[in-house]
Amino acid sequence: MSVTNELLRDTRTRLHIGGDWTEGEGLLDVFDPATEQLLATVSVAGLDQARLAVDAAWEAAPGWAATAPRQRSDILRRAYDMMIAREDQLAELIILENGKTYTDAIGEVRYGAEFFRWFSEEAVRIMGEFRTAPRGDKRIVVIPEPVGVSLMVTPWNFPSAMATRKLGPALAAGCTTILKPASDTPLSALAVADILAEAGLPAGVVNVVTSRGSSGVVDAILADPRVRKLSFTGSTEVGRLLMAKAGSRIMRTSMELGGNAPFVVFEDADIKAAIAGAMLAKMRNAGETCVAANRFYVHAGIAGEFTSRLSDAMSSLRMGPGIVRSNQVGPMINAQAIEKIDDLVNSAVDDDATVLTGGRAPDGPGHFYEPTVLSGVSQDSMILGHEIFGPVAPVVSFESEEEVVRAANDTEHGLISYVYTEDVNRAFRMAEAIESGMVALNRGIISDEAAPFGGVKQSGVGREGSHHGMEEFLELKYVAW
Ligand code: SIN
Repeated sequence: MSVTNELLRDTRTRLHIGGDWTEGEGLLDVFDPATEQLLATVSVAGLDQARLAVDAAWEAAPGWAATAPRQRSDILRRAYDMMIAREDQLAELIILENGKTYTDAIGEVRYGAEFFRWFSEEAVRIMGEFRTAPRGDKRIVVIPEPVGVSLMVTPWNFPSAMATRKLGPALAAGCTTILKPASDTPLSALAVADILAEAGLPAGVVNVVTSRGSSGVVDAILADPRVRKLSFTGSTEVGRLLMAKAGSRIMRTSMELGGNAPFVVFEDADIKAAIAGAMLAKMRNAGETCVAANRFYVHAGIAGEFTSRLSDAMSSLRMGPGIVRSNQVGPMINAQAIEKIDDLVNSAVDDDATVLTGGRAPDGPGHFYEPTVLSGVSQDSMILGHEIFGPVAPVVSFESEEEVVRAANDTEHGLISYVYTEDVNRAFRMAEAIESGMVALNRGIISDEAAPFGGVKQSGVGREGSHHGMEEFLELKYVAW
């Protein structure tokens, strides 16, 4: 039996409810986007399993909230150790169901595991307050308490790390959870739940309900008055719908939504560093991240040199299945993703952009799209207003700082911006002027479990990671004494 078959044989494929691995009301096929072959068939929840998952989380809630912080911390820390000990198997699962390269997949496992380590450390540092009121008539006591049963809806582009980024703080804070992984990539989330169970997490604290988008499972969970919190990572379109449903129940929400990141390169930038940063910001997960550089604004004085160096770097990447460790660009998640990318590239070309490299999807099998660089993209081209979510870099030139700030902010999104300049004053002027929750100065990647990740405008609400990530799962109770 091959290593892959052995891995898939040992992988959980059922729902996880109340500590049991149970069948659902149907089955869902999971495919390898690099080969389009069937990988596994998993159980999917219907409305009965949705209710059972809420029952389990609700029943486990008082016990978990009362569990000593040190005990909660120890379980998370054991789960971190186990993820690291099994990093190759977990990475292979991500490669198979998501299509990432080995470098990206192992990076995701380590990044994901760090959320368990970080929040194991935060679990024992939840701070309250004790103050004398200004009038001296009472003491103000502020007690942080777990929000309660939390629903987590996670995306296919980080099937493991987005689960741990939400579960880590929720479990550290004392919340019980229902995790609904993306239907394209449920296996990694089930593997995370399996590790938590093995690490000693009591039954019912984490429940996993895989479901099809159209099943009504998420709506049913959101409509249940026992559920107090929604944490979602995904597109702005879906986030808007879920937030409206959660809003009708005045539910707490954390929404990590789409981006349209500008990558700004000034004439005084270190071009070599800017190219290296651009390759990271654009090509991590082959562009399938919400923090991917989506629009490249390069000063007219260096635009020619930058674009030609970028297309050399992009065209030299080896594309192929991530299971071959030397491959550097994996497939997109599915055929619809290819269609969307192709439409955006074609519309840019219709608006007079030039394809310097790439620009097409090779014949299958596999949902691949060639690393692509477009130059001479017009300001009003559709590609600059849409999240590409693929390996395509449209380049626009600019003349002045004011002009580029205006262009960078001309979007409903505000997740992250990248700025390359050697002038520290300009760097901070840009960091202040750009409307985004995160700014990368002379860096192509900023994701860090110890930093607050999140956006402004229609890129989201709330922060994940760091001590701010804990606040999303805590309510403050004020006691007047
Ligand atoms: C995302 O693309 O949703 C997350 C990216 C990250 O955490 O770096």
